[in-house]
Amino acid sequence: MKLLFLACLSPKTGNYTTAERIRSHIESAGHSCELRDVADFHSPSDLAHLVSQNPPFEGALAIHLFKAGRLLLDLRLPFGVIFGGTDINEDVKDEQKRVVMEQVLLKARFAVAFTEKLKEEAEFVLVSPDSKIYVQPQGIQTEVAEQFCWTEFLRSSEWHSKNLHNILIIIGPKVDPALTAEVEAVVKRATGVFLAQERSQQELHAAMKRCYAVVNSSVSEGMSAAILEAMDLRVPVLARNIPGNAAVVKHGVTGLLFSSPQEFVHQSQRLLSDQELRERVVRSGKLYVEEHHSVKQERETYQRLVDKLHKAQFLA
Ligand SMILES: *[C@@H]1O[C@H](CO)[C@@H](O)[C@H](O)[C@H]1NC(C)=O
Repeated sequence: MKLLFLACLSPKTGNYTTAERIRSHIESAGHSCELRDVADFHSPSDLAHLVSQNPPFEGALAIHLFKAGRLLLDLRLPFGVIFGGTDINEDVKDEQKRVVMEQVLLKARFAVAFTEKLKEEAEFVLVSPDSKIYVQPQGIQTEVAEQFCWTEFLRSSEWHSKNLHNILIIIGPKVDPALTAEVEAVVKRATGVFLAQERSQQELHAAMKRCYAVVNSSVSEGMSAAILEAMDLRVPVLARNIPGNAAVVKHGVTGLLFSSPQEFVHQSQRLLSDQELRERVVRSGKLYVEEHHSVKQERETYQRLVDKLHKAQFLA
């Protein structure tokens, strides 16, 4: 089956990694699956043009009901959707967007939520007549680059003369210009906090592996693949206590949670001084990822769901 897969594909983001992984699951079942960035399509007609190519696409998949799924509404292709982070947390608050998302969900042959909670929230805010929302957590796979060095950070300041454990490095692409400016301004005033450019996933994992802990201080909801990857790499996790993080980090078991700067410092100090705690957290985190975020299971789910599209194509 020839499938079109639409997603927001800024390079070196979590979205990109997820989309690539799902694409490879689908191809390993013998289908062809073309991944396209929603940013390349300015109107549904741009997409209609692509879809009618020869040989034509026979089905579609989209990550994000609003950003990507809506482009599929007018096409006569069976499709499935995967809830994106901002769908339920942000976009539903806008009534117009919510209505569009509801249409997407109605027309979709299936929808995938990364968590049970997201599924419940989606069913609460969007009408979904038959239960077509499946829960499939993201599969987590880590690979550490063999060659990696910190020179960039060493150059950036005198940090190496201090205690390495007291340094916070923020790594990632500049996706949102307003947020980037805000972060840069704060970092300039702070000592011991550094910004680093995005890098390949293997290099990022190599960097994580060399850290004492991985921190997530996000206040906005979502599911953190970075936290799960840290667990997989046996690096302790310190995360802000928000529902998205608390869903994967059980305080004192798979990681540590904090709600204030003071608590962050306190929990970090605990982690530094209590070797037993550190070992426990690392062990349970690894087990948690293996049990709940297996790539093998993720592959089987998507292969089964794509079979539904395959069958729908013959019924249409
Ligand atoms: C931090 O956690 C939030 C909520 O779980 C998530 O949306 C975000 O992607 C995470 N970011 C990183 C870098 O872990």
